[in-house]
Amino acid sequence: MADTGTLNLSDGEIKLAGSLLTELLRGYERTAPSGRVMPRIDRGVLEGLLRDPFPAAGAGIEGLFREIQETVLPNSTAIAHPRFLAYVLGPANGIAPFADAVASALNQNCNFWQLSPAASVIEQSVIGWLAGLFGYPGGSGGIVTSGGSMANLMAIATALRHRCGDEFAKQGLQSVESPLVLYTSAEAHRCVEKAAVILGLGLANVRKIPVDSSFMMRADLLEAAVREDRAVGKTPFCVVATAGTVNTGAIDPIGPIADLCGREDLWLHVDGAYGALFALGRETRDVLLPCGRADSIALDPHKLLFIPLEAGCLLVRRQETLRQAFSFSASYLSADQDPLFVNYMDYGPQLSRSFKAFKVWCSLRAFGVLAFREAVERMVRLARYMERRILEEARLELLAPVPLSAVCFRIRGAGDGENRHVLEDLVREGTALLGPVSINGQFGIRACITNYRTTEADIDLVLERLLSLAGRFRNDG
Ligand SMILES: Cc1ncc(COP(=O)(O)O)c(C=O)c1O
Repeated sequence: MADTGTLNLSDGEIKLAGSLLTELLRGYERTAPSGRVMPRIDRGVLEGLLRDPFPAAGAGIEGLFREIQETVLPNSTAIAHPRFLAYVLGPANGIAPFADAVASALNQNCNFWQLSPAASVIEQSVIGWLAGLFGYPGGSGGIVTSGGSMANLMAIATALRHRCGDEFAKQGLQSVESPLVLYTSAEAHRCVEKAAVILGLGLANVRKIPVDSSFMMRADLLEAAVREDRAVGKTPFCVVATAGTVNTGAIDPIGPIADLCGREDLWLHVDGAYGALFALGRETRDVLLPCGRADSIALDPHKLLFIPLEAGCLLVRRQETLRQAFSFSASYLSADQDPLFVNYMDYGPQLSRSFKAFKVWCSLRAFGVLAFREAVERMVRLARYMERRILEEARLELLAPVPLSAVCFRIRGAGDGENRHVLEDLVREGTALLGPVSINGQFGIRACITNYRTTEADIDLVLERLLSLAGRFRNDG
């Protein structure tokens, strides 16, 4: 047999690695729910990892898995825990780790189709399924991204190019005489402003429109702001509405905003990184369907579809707009065109791209979309359950409506400092991980149920522990 070095595994080693991996996955699934959510971090072990020299000789397969078990697993946050209720993140669905392994083995480069023929079709298929949720028409398209932040950035870049045309590609923002203005709400995710900075628009040209008492963008104030800017010679070009704000899950009034964008010829982008996929749920679908009126939608399979990081998605009403924004010719890269395939390097900033669509496709193929609908509906039901329990409990105060699965509340009568301590104590004891939130300037505790493992008993336990910790704090105080 030809000597190909030692980077490949023998048949026996493949079996060994496979069985160690299966054991690791099974053990993790079994033990994660009964352990701590936040690990007791062993600083010594982690500092040891930092000091490890460049390994001259390998530890071998068993050695490697032992190291993973001893150093990585015990020092990792248990996202798979049913009481991981922080940020907008949840456990990976069961088949996804296997899909990731296959994608790694195939190592397709999803840039042009000759390097990834099946992958190109699978990505189109996933995009088509997701676009279908919002009734996007023929000619629509999109691309799988690293997440919502990147999808939002790409959407704004697409809007800029669409608004400013080819001259913009040559001269850039330097040639624009009248400042281009982007509108979003005061509750928008920070990645919208970050994108504006990266793209050279400048924070001064992002207008944050106030929200109403339900944290939804005020469409009337948006209209007034656009008029005001036109009157002083500025050029409004894009509105970023949010379908599911990161704090409270508020859904901006997409219909009236779309009407305004139509009248004013503005690109409407919907940041649905958290909320758009609630369109899968029967109770939440109707309020999200108007997203289909937008020119583009960002959504995150790595949130509500429980796809392991990273898997975001940008959908565009006209695929051609994405190509205009991102195709770029180079003599050393001329891919053949074939109507069956999409050369994704022409639809985004990356050249080399991993096969992220695969884990999304495998998850939907393995479980079927109805299983995800059921999970989404269960999360909404659980959030309503938590909301009800908070409303019934005199010692707790709900801070915001609960349109999706984020529940913001605080210990009634306690100050910001006390609420913060109670949350920190809960996290420290390892029972659950919830996040902090600021609502109308007040410190709040935020549970975001993006976790298919959470049950009513978990919600009960979290609330009981918080109340008990608050009581102890008061007795101590
Ligand atoms: C509304 C909203 N937009 C954007 C993002 C950023 O998405 P990502 O973390 O996938 O980049 C988030 C993340 O939670 C979000 O909730």
